Amino acid sequence: MEKKIILTGDRPTGRLHIGHYFGSLKKRIELQESGEYTPYILIADVQALTDNFNNPEKVRNNVREVAMDYLACGIDPNKTTIYIQSMIPEVAELTVFYSNLVTIARLERNPTVKTEIAQKREIFGESVTYGFLGYPVSQAADITIFEGKYVPVGEDQLPLIEQCREIVRKFNSIYGEVLTEPEAILSSGKRIKGLDGNEKMGKSLGNAIYLSDSEEEITKKVMSAVTDPNRIKKDDLGNPNVCMVAYYHNLFSTKEEIETVCEECKAGKRGCVACKKQLAKNISDTLKPIREKRAYYEQHPEEVDRILQEGTQKARKTAKETMKKIKKAMKLDYFE
Ligand code: TRP
Repeated sequence: MEKKIILTGDRPTGRLHIGHYFGSLKKRIELQESGEYTPYILIADVQALTDNFNNPEKVRNNVREVAMDYLACGIDPNKTTIYIQSMIPEVAELTVFYSNLVTIARLERNPTVKTEIAQKREIFGESVTYGFLGYPVSQAADITIFEGKYVPVGEDQLPLIEQCREIVRKFNSIYGEVLTEPEAILSSGKRIKGLDGNEKMGKSLGNAIYLSDSEEEITKKVMSAVTDPNRIKKDDLGNPNVCMVAYYHNLFSTKEEIETVCEECKAGKRGCVACKKQLAKNISDTLKPIREKRAYYEQHPEEVDRILQEGTQKARKTAKETMKKIKKAMKLDYFE
């Protein structure tokens, strides 16, 4: 039986951090390694431009950065097709066709879009662009052009998958059963808080540890992490439940270490500096293989380019085949 297609992607607006790793990358690698699917990963540069249209350099540079992050953490180009969204013109074409099947009011009600617009007031002010409002339409094209069946996403992306399903049903009811209705797979990964305790880790918040960070950078960042505010002197009894260092120990340290660290903190026997140093070392050790693999690709940009080019060529071939079926269904197949 033919393997089902899984599609995921990221906007290339910055390097990937440990929040991405725990939230989605680990799951993608797990699905890739299961051998049960045909995975595609898109680097969504067109979508990134919807809120970075005035910063093309940033988007361009981060396409390769994100690709290197993928490769470094175990996305295997022999198993997963990595491609660049803008190099598949069929996706843009399909977005135009889909835009007739969705109302402006429906897009305005999309919870993900609504939240993002509220977060991006400094970019859009009161007036949102047509492109940004419509990005769920383009995301529906991303998914369906490969007849994607499963889309592993975080909870925040669910409304986008629902919107895609609606478009598919509408298309199929008008033009015939051509498109595959995708299903979201909730990636069981957890959302990692930032070093400052913020619910979200992100570049703009300055509270992230990147997969590419050096040991020195990691140590510096961990030193700035928020600890129990009531603990001023080493002898004060600490509360690990309100400490970001303890929070990260839970992700990166062994069970015994976590127990020791927390007990000593609560008894006022361990200072925060020692605790942070130990954490920084554990994070750095965990990320070491990723960092080293990434360093290899940094030194071989031609290899990264080749992987992106081959992945994109392969994806384009599939996209062309689906577009042929779509155009036939829409009576747009005038001549070859
Ligand atoms: N919206 C996703 C994000 O912001 C990126 C994305 C674009 C995507 N197209 C997709 C994700 C298709 C899954 C499927 O990270």
